[in-house]
Amino acid sequence: MKTVYSINDARDSIRSAKTQGRTIVFVPTMGNLHDGHLSLVKKAREVADEVVVSIYVNQLQFGPNEDYDSYPITFEEDQALLNAHDVPLLFAPSSHEIYPEGAEHHTVVRVDALDGMHCGKSRPGFFTGIATVVAKLFNIVQPNYAVFGEKDFQQLCIIRKMVDDLMLPLEIIGAPIARAENGLALSSRNGYLSEEEKQTAAILWQTLIRARKAIIAGDRDYDALHRVAFVKLARAGFKPDYFNIVSRHTLQPATLDDKELVILAAAGLGRARLIDNIQIDL
Ligand code: PAJ
Repeated sequence: MKTVYSINDARDSIRSAKTQGRTIVFVPTMGNLHDGHLSLVKKAREVADEVVVSIYVNQLQFGPNEDYDSYPITFEEDQALLNAHDVPLLFAPSSHEIYPEGAEHHTVVRVDALDGMHCGKSRPGFFTGIATVVAKLFNIVQPNYAVFGEKDFQQLCIIRKMVDDLMLPLEIIGAPIARAENGLALSSRNGYLSEEEKQTAAILWQTLIRARKAIIAGDRDYDALHRVAFVKLARAGFKPDYFNIVSRHTLQPATLDDKELVILAAAGLGRARLIDNIQIDL
């Protein structure tokens, strides 16, 4: 595997693959790779000839009191994993490369229609930071496809909307959530949990499953389901942030007419903020 650190080197490598007629699929990450990231790489390999992975911890998507300074960095291990998964190109730019004049006063991409709710409400500026860096990475890599995890469901919707609205010439592919044996969605931030907290963390997924079962069985009192889930999570030791039953397309509260739903959930546990979701087809 070749690792490139500059935009110029990334463009050179990708151009040479493209001139050989090879299609490019891109998997952006912030590193500290786990089986969730690797499942995206596997999916990527199915859709195009050449997989490009990026590792970049994007300061613009972290709030002032968030974990930018302590975000887990395991670069050598990540390289070894990608190498073992036959990834031909890793792009690992520095912050100076991505924000040469600093991230402040930088031009941003704001996906208004899907921001301001769920994670966007709790973490102001978060999705603007993500959309901005992803747009920059798309412009550097110029892939035919990019793969994003359904684990970050709102992020996936925001990237799709940005690509549609700005007419970016690539196709976005969603990949299912990779979970630990107990159901906990894999995440770099799970490293903040103790062994005991990891067991408790699985209750978030169980709460989603229970709500889905109730909805499929005909329960349409979404407000009550929301309240019950909040109480259950709080009793288990979480600090629930949201548990929202929404339309999969608009991310707005589900109405009785909506048939394609997703429940989006976020909750604090110990030092970690966990997010998870479950899709429902009625
Ligand atoms: P990061 O959290 O490193 O995640 C990179 C990609 O891996 C995202 O598409 C995310 O949805 C996916 N992913 C993470 N955990 C997963 C799991 N358990 N199952 C399936 N996919 C999973 O998301 C980001 O980085 C950043 O916001 C980024 C898009 C790179 C922009 O900075």
